[in-house]
Amino acid sequence: GVNITIPHKESVIRFLDDISEEARLVGAVNTIVYKDRKLVGYNTDGSGYMASLKEELGFNPKSKRIIIIGAGGAARGILAALATQKPKSITVANRTLSRAVSLIKTFKGKFRDTRFEAIDLDNNMLKMSFNSVDLLINTTSVGMKQSKALKIPLETLPKIAIVSDIIYNPLETLLLKKAKKIGLTTHGGLGMLVHQGARSFKLWTGMDAPMNVMRKAALKALKMEVGSRK
Ligand SMILES: NC(=O)c1ccc[n+]([C@@H]2O[C@H](COP(=O)([O-])OP(=O)(O)OC[C@H]3O[C@@H](n4cnc5c(N)ncnc54)[C@H](OP(=O)(O)O)[C@@H]3O)[C@@H](O)[C@H]2O)c1
Repeated sequence: GVNITIPHKESVIRFLDDISEEARLVGAVNTIVYKDRKLVGYNTDGSGYMASLKEELGFNPKSKRIIIIGAGGAARGILAALATQKPKSITVANRTLSRAVSLIKTFKGKFRDTRFEAIDLDNNMLKMSFNSVDLLINTTSVGMKQSKALKIPLETLPKIAIVSDIIYNPLETLLLKKAKKIGLTTHGGLGMLVHQGARSFKLWTGMDAPMNVMRKAALKALKMEVGSRK
């Protein structure tokens, strides 16, 4: 099988014989398995993210209030995985509000235990939602490769909130540094990268992936990339 990445995760679907339930919900495929002369597509991004949150922080989304910043492909995968775990609410905040609105539309009628909301990426709107949040996830590309931090009012989050950033390059984004400085628990993107790959490996081979080897290799490659930019 193969892994698929941006920008082919959606366009590849028409070439496949079948796709999994999760990939159908997400509308994107990141893993293709060739079995019995058939090409079947899966999406391991969202479940990889959830596994990393559980492994690193023991986080269980049931009955939790969650804010997702961004409404792109990664947000869709994470939303699909989270929605199956019955959180109390999921708010999607995006620079282009119409994308957030269309993202939650797919989920609204399907998951009745969760309240879905779409809001503008505007600090006044965010402050109103922030006062009762358990988990905030940055799924935008803002903060990648040492670019500037997302300007959001982190200081208005409750002290128990977790700030998660799925960017893995750098390993600790400026957003996470800021969150840590004000005493919030943080979660970076490397675990999601490793876990989504491990899930693909299992789909291809039927065997558990060597997680430690994969994590070490990912860290080494990322450190080399950072070194070559200096
Ligand atoms: N850890 C992992 O394994 C993993 C897996 C997948 C992706 N990622 C990371 O996730 C990030 C997003 O990937 P994606 O595939 O979802 O990308 P995408 O589909 O292109 O979506 C990008 C999102 O970022 C928002 N955005 C971009 N620039 C912005 C800005 N200046 N201000 C505010 N919002 C901005 C976009 O808002 P608009 O809708 O307004 O344009 C959109 O919501 C990337 O950094 C990628 O590396 C990590």
